[in-house]
Amino acid sequence: MFLLKNHLIYFIINKDNYFFILEVVGIMYKQFEERAEKIISQMTLKEKVGQLNQITITSFKNDFDSLKSFIREGNVGSIILASSATAGNDPQGHVNMEFYNELQKIAVEESRMKIPMIYGRDVIHGHRTVYPLPLASAAAFNDSLVEKCYHNIAEEAVSDGIRWTFSPMLDLCHDPRWGRMVEGPGEDPYVGARVAEACVKGFQGDDLTAKDSIVACAKHYLGYGASEGGRDYFRTEISDTTLYNTIVPAFRAAVKAGVGTVMSSFNDINGTPVTGSKKYLSDILRDKLKFEGFVVSDWAAVEQLARQGYAEDRADCTKKALEAGLDLDMCDKCYIENLEKLVLDGKVSESTVDLAVKRILCVKLAMGLFDRPYGEKVDYDRAEHLADAKALAAESMVLLKNNGVLPLKKDANIGLVGPFVTERRSLLGTWTLDGSADETPNFLEAMKSKLRGGKLFCRDLSGIFDNSSTINYKSDVVVLALGESYLTTGEAYSVSDISLSKDQLELVDKMHSMGKKTVGVIFSARPMALEGVADKLDAIVYAWHSGSETANAAADILFGDTVPSGKTAVTFPRKTGHIPLYYNITASGRPVDGYYGVNPQNNYVDSVATPMYPFGYGLSYTSFEYSAPKCDTTEIEYNDLLNGKSFTVSVDVANVGDYDGKETVQLYIRDKVASIMRPIRELKGYEKVLIEKGTTKTVSFSVGAESLGFYNENGDYVIEKGEFEIFVGANCLTENKITVRVK
Ligand code: GLC
Repeated sequence: MFLLKNHLIYFIINKDNYFFILEVVGIMYKQFEERAEKIISQMTLKEKVGQLNQITITSFKNDFDSLKSFIREGNVGSIILASSATAGNDPQGHVNMEFYNELQKIAVEESRMKIPMIYGRDVIHGHRTVYPLPLASAAAFNDSLVEKCYHNIAEEAVSDGIRWTFSPMLDLCHDPRWGRMVEGPGEDPYVGARVAEACVKGFQGDDLTAKDSIVACAKHYLGYGASEGGRDYFRTEISDTTLYNTIVPAFRAAVKAGVGTVMSSFNDINGTPVTGSKKYLSDILRDKLKFEGFVVSDWAAVEQLARQGYAEDRADCTKKALEAGLDLDMCDKCYIENLEKLVLDGKVSESTVDLAVKRILCVKLAMGLFDRPYGEKVDYDRAEHLADAKALAAESMVLLKNNGVLPLKKDANIGLVGPFVTERRSLLGTWTLDGSADETPNFLEAMKSKLRGGKLFCRDLSGIFDNSSTINYKSDVVVLALGESYLTTGEAYSVSDISLSKDQLELVDKMHSMGKKTVGVIFSARPMALEGVADKLDAIVYAWHSGSETANAAADILFGDTVPSGKTAVTFPRKTGHIPLYYNITASGRPVDGYYGVNPQNNYVDSVATPMYPFGYGLSYTSFEYSAPKCDTTEIEYNDLLNGKSFTVSVDVANVGDYDGKETVQLYIRDKVASIMRPIRELKGYEKVLIEKGTTKTVSFSVGAESLGFYNENGDYVIEKGEFEIFVGANCLTENKITVRVK
């Protein structure tokens, strides 16, 4: 074990049949403990409680004198720059940095302890420049580009005085009815972990004190994405093995990357609210994952413990949350109104309060907030940010179908029809607080900009440019601009049916009946049920809600200026009734594994529950051919594996088409027999490579202990001897495999 600057490298302890990876990698917040303890030793109990209190910018309405007095008395540790509890879709005012610097000046120069406040805002997938929603950008499988874009976001946020963001959202989800699936990395824990690392590094960089770094927040810890029925704010049932193998890995990766904060979630797990649970907030998060930052509640998640029937009253909510390990109380005033009395009455120990204060102060010290408490502009290149946004949007979009109609010719006559021809705001996606729809090009403008001698015959459902007969006779091809509003996604915006709207389905039928070549461009944030739609379209580009440059990126793909390379990080079910449908399932005892085409007719009598498009799927304008996997061994000693030995699996991927293209080569494993059933496929590696037409690239993966084990119900990482199938291919359904035995 050795220490790099602010990082502790991890090592493996080999103990009998188990072994433990002690991963304590990331920014070491504990190194600030001594300074924090010195500050705490000078604080009154009232001031300590004040550090655990977060208020909103509207807490005092417009009574700024009262707000300033409240801050001056040391009652505010943090301000969330949001004016409502569901800031994701409610209009939010822009940040007035001068005003917040004025409030900070009171905390830093006029309060007794002069502790700076930390300002947080939901800078989720962009600030002024908006990037694809996380479910979209996960489809890019391009960690370095995501990291670059999230660094761009940090630059823009810092320039508005924001030093802390409530992102990345890492809730894995199997249910696209849930409006918040779009905020997360999809259905797979390995993708979740890679995305977590890329986002945290992008936001925080290597030095939290740097002027272009902001503190990240891994949320919503824990299991919020498993809300039953996709209903927001609903209950979850999660076994510990599912928790450790599916839900926790993304958070583990965020901690390993040095995330400074974690947000506790609204939901309960098996009847225990996470926000009041020592098991989740302390035993797992701190003892197993080694998290050293601080935990902030979700909005009013402390007081809701009473509504959940887990606490008597607000004082009991306060006691239960603090003792569970919840450090900063977001906006419900439970801590500021009850904690001092609880301590004075001997119901909560002051040492517990001190511990929470210390964690918050360590993060504030680690980010240099005491040395640089005021927001200040940083120079950034907005054009570069927009170019990165377009690049990430283009790499996120998924070509789901193409029977040769794409790419379009720039001298073609094109019918452009549908409700997303002139739409702007929805292209930005939910949780866009500071991006401007007015600044966002729409699809009509983007398509027009690409034509060279061609014509557009347009009709969007909001305004008539041409009647459909014109479209019929003059257009060579019809492009349908379809999708869903941002207001059917995000917090408190779930749906019970993931079909396209009725008018859009009718439009598809109408255009199909004209017998024209028809391309569907679908601007939806979640996977939608395309049964009865896909077969009527000659090509489908899934454009998601991909931010400021959605329209331009989609137009680039349609005309072949960009060769599509996205691969979906979430399964597309054929219909709502097939939910949940996800790839990393265990095998049935009966010969029925519908997802993998094994007797799918036996899943339902009224439909076939194979995926419309499986996890990891996406087409290109070129074609790739994979060799059989090669491995440098067919077996490996168990102890060698535990001691860090790995083996290498490689494939040759040939570009046999007419375009240079990027391919995301995916590696899956299957542990054939284990003490708990293991999934038919588990993604354990991916690499996106550019392969020029007519050439072949060898892609290799190192496979070691971290890829072959699983977590048992106690959260211990376990590897067992036996046979492992290693698959390497273009999506989760690949049968291109080799077998390796751990003996
Ligand atoms: C909301 C959301 C959370 C967000 C927080 C602050 O309720 O659940 O994702 O970061 O409150 O706006």
